[in-house]
Amino acid sequence: MDVVIVGLPGSGKSAVGRRLAARHGAPFVDIDQAIERAAGASIPEIFAAEGEAGFRARERAAIAALGPAGEDRGITRVIAPGGGSVVDPRNRWHLFRGRRPIWLDARPEVLTQRLRRSPNVRPLIAGHDPMRAVRDLGAARRRFYAAADRVNGVVEIASVVEAVDEAATGHGRLGTVLLRADTKLGAIVVGASILTDEVASALRGLEARRAILVSEPGAWEAVTSGLARELGARGLPVETVMLPAGEAAKSLAVVEDAARQLARLRVERGEPIVAIGGGALTDAAGFLSATYLRGIPAVLVPTTLAGQLDAAIGGKSAVNLPEGKNLVGTFHQPVAVIIDVALLATLAERQRRAALAEAVKMAALGDDRLFALLEADGPAIAAGDSAAFESGAIAELVERAAWAKVEVVLQDEREAGERISLNLGHSLGHAIEAAAGFEGLLHGEAVGYGLRAASRIGVERGVTPAKRAGRIETLLDQLELGRAPLDVALDDVLAALTTDKKHRDGLLRWVLPTADGHVVDPDVPASLVRSVAVDVLAGRAATPATAAT
Ligand SMILES: NC(=O)c1ccc[n+]([C@@H]2O[C@H](COP(=O)([O-])OP(=O)(O)OC[C@H]3O[C@@H](n4cnc5c(N)ncnc54)[C@H](O)[C@@H]3O)[C@@H](O)[C@H]2O)c1
Repeated sequence: MDVVIVGLPGSGKSAVGRRLAARHGAPFVDIDQAIERAAGASIPEIFAAEGEAGFRARERAAIAALGPAGEDRGITRVIAPGGGSVVDPRNRWHLFRGRRPIWLDARPEVLTQRLRRSPNVRPLIAGHDPMRAVRDLGAARRRFYAAADRVNGVVEIASVVEAVDEAATGHGRLGTVLLRADTKLGAIVVGASILTDEVASALRGLEARRAILVSEPGAWEAVTSGLARELGARGLPVETVMLPAGEAAKSLAVVEDAARQLARLRVERGEPIVAIGGGALTDAAGFLSATYLRGIPAVLVPTTLAGQLDAAIGGKSAVNLPEGKNLVGTFHQPVAVIIDVALLATLAERQRRAALAEAVKMAALGDDRLFALLEADGPAIAAGDSAAFESGAIAELVERAAWAKVEVVLQDEREAGERISLNLGHSLGHAIEAAAGFEGLLHGEAVGYGLRAASRIGVERGVTPAKRAGRIETLLDQLELGRAPLDVALDDVLAALTTDKKHRDGLLRWVLPTADGHVVDPDVPASLVRSVAVDVLAGRAATPATAAT
């Protein structure tokens, strides 16, 4: 078993790592030293000559070169990467997967004192107020370090080594946690093959005496049945409440029936449910948890790509009425969201592809790395290529898109302002879904058309540079989204637009992409909307290629 020691500058990664390695007769790998050796230059020299970007590229290469994790038994290697390496999701994937990551945690005051005494120059700290720099780095990286097992790094070194040794060899954990954050939107954990451990630990944290699993047939077969077995094997009594598959779960009648099942199970306030399924299931079960006994805790386990990078985050729950989608709902934050990307393996290609439209939206809102990731790996992710999982591309995609949503929602939990950005591509998208009678077209597929419409309207309104619009449309082409001509009536689409939720004072506020973000435009002329809608509904083949240049 390779042990990986992470932590802020000054936390003692090298000193502790070296001693731990010596104790087990195992090699010690200091990634920073490996980089210096390969470059023939010190780290401050690399920063000076190549900037942080150059250093990070070297760091990525050194981490990828670590190769496969060592055998399960005993300590095979002790690896100490630079403190900032964990910011890159792909680095974490390579560092943590199959290895045992340990976080040496220490207060900023202690770290600052140690750094003052250290002869090493730390480029991210030199020239700054050290205490503030350490504090800021700590806050920015906490969710990445917290994916590892925490060891107190403040006590004297022999005890730290002892504690790391114990943590590293103590208990077997199969999965890979990549990110762990405590937020106002619940505790959020992202990883691979973490499901049973994380659900069990969330339920332990809530002092639950049983696991009440709320699921639906598709997720049951792929995920929930196995989880129920494993929780049972760990001695936890399991109850199940089944809702119908897909959108049929989102009805008041279904929620009433589920609430009655909870009542028969004598579920008390404070007793959590675990909602396991796609966005439709987590929307319905979220509404159930928000309203049963005026609110009980919910642990959400999204099992679809749309659920993992979008629906399970943000606390919006809703059911549909015959008059429209999501018309009855609440804001109710879950206590935890457990995102296990290994659960996506069984998902149908069409579902994956459609969900990527939401990732394109997050990229278009200004996440350049997500853009590049979708351009490089999006088609393989959509196709379900196992290489896209093994390389860490899926994990990075989910983490980036989900965290981008977390950040937007944290700024505006109740959609009073900034959260409207998440509606990019959704005005025409929703209208198309409504015009199609919410049948035959997946939500993400409709958003694909909507993103094209927003880009084209943006170009005409002079807010979206042609190059940006071209990049968005080319990516949608690559992902085969919004390309086929659509058989929906233009008048129905335009009529549905007039009832869009984003109206204020009678005006539809269009979210339009800019060079690196978005603007809200309430003044888009109806004639422009109509002509762009005609274009978009006709499909990509009928579109002049101008936008793609
Ligand atoms: N609350 C929000 O913020 C929010 C955001 C976006 C979307 N949504 C809602 O999400 C819903 C769409 O969610 P969705 O796209 O996940 O669809 P979905 O929940 O209908 O699931 C799609 C299908 O996948 C199956 N499935 C689920 N997990 C599986 C797995 N691991 N392997 C194989 N099959 C599996 C399901 O049985 C279902 O048939 C819509 O109702 C939408 O309104 C909510």
